[in-house]
Amino acid sequence: MRWKPWVLLLLFQICINKAQDEGNQPAKVAFPKEVDTCNGIFLLYTFDSRQKEYPRLKNATAQSWAFKSQLAVINAGTTELKSWQAYIGFQHDEILVSVDGAMPLNAEEFPMRLGKNGTHLIGYPHADLKTAIDTAGDLPQMSSLVKIKGTMFGVRLGGNIMPTNIKLENEGFKCPKAKTKNTRSMHVCCTKDPKYKAKKKKTLKFFPRRKADLSFTYDITQAFKGSYMAQVTIENNHPLGRLDHWNLSFEWMRNEFIYDMRGAFPRRKDPSNASSVPPDNTIKTWISQRS
Ligand SMILES: *[C@@H]1O[C@H](CO)[C@@H](O)[C@H](O)[C@H]1NC(C)=O
Ligand SMILES: *[C@@H]1O[C@H](CO)[C@@H](O)[C@H](O)[C@H]1NC(C)=O
Ligand SMILES: *[C@@H]1O[C@H](CO)[C@@H](O)[C@H](O)[C@H]1NC(C)=O
Ligand SMILES: *[C@@H]1O[C@H](CO)[C@@H](O)[C@H](O)[C@H]1NC(C)=O
Repeated sequence: MRWKPWVLLLLFQICINKAQDEGNQPAKVAFPKEVDTCNGIFLLYTFDSRQKEYPRLKNATAQSWAFKSQLAVINAGTTELKSWQAYIGFQHDEILVSVDGAMPLNAEEFPMRLGKNGTHLIGYPHADLKTAIDTAGDLPQMSSLVKIKGTMFGVRLGGNIMPTNIKLENEGFKCPKAKTKNTRSMHVCCTKDPKYKAKKKKTLKFFPRRKADLSFTYDITQAFKGSYMAQVTIENNHPLGRLDHWNLSFEWMRNEFIYDMRGAFPRRKDPSNASSVPPDNTIKTWISQRS
């Protein structure tokens, strides 16, 4: 007997809280003069500060320090960069506690222990960097600023607190080794590799869809200034398994709130109060099955 998957559609009209959104725009960063000679993507890592954490230990190697740093990625070239990705070669057993403006690759949750491996970051929510040419030099559209907070170990006063290297990881770019300046700042200009040939389509990192999957799709069907319509589809491809009383949760990254919804209802109403959106953007909305 032929069996058909069930499909469910939800329609959302979503508003973006503009006033709050502007608060997330990259702050002003003083770029070193080297950016003037960069025709490509310029990365700047700045170590802001660190402070001894408890417990205070006699053994300097084991002492933990709270640190704050920033990574600025700016498109100083002539073509838009989609989904920027960068590597920071942390080397002091860093533990990332919060990363604002990017997502560490393979991050399960914070605190995130890096060991000696460093971390790969992906721009989020601002992932595409436009050119100065297309934006009349509008820095917020051309750049991303990532704010990093974490713990590092060891390194006496005056020691090297910087990562081993920083680089852009997008395909088709090459970066020389980053240069350290004033012991607290590191920069590199990554340029397009003229020899680069786009590789054959890489296999997806996702598993192919299979029978018995439960899949979710979030499609933006229409976008307006300050709002958009999204269609959420839940598809159950299991011939036997059924899913009752489902709850779906969303983590909004741009201070969205739901203005109108069909096909489901929110379990909690408070996220609709835009003025109560917390500054860290971690508001979650739970959507439930209409019974
Ligand atoms: C100091 O701490 C480091 C790292 O935890 C450890 O490997 C080392 O053995 C300690 N040294 C002493 C003298 O306790
Ligand atoms: C660092 O990378 C190595 C090799 O890939 C892996 O075995 C190890 O678990 C990683 N360490 C951390 C802290 O992620
Ligand atoms: C969804 O949430 C409701 C209310 O907390 C709960 O009764 C229900 O069991 C949940 N459904 C699932 C599938 O977890
Ligand atoms: C929205 O949230 C703010 C801050 O939590 C609160 O002061 C205000 O009364 C709320 N407004 C409504 C309409 O619930």
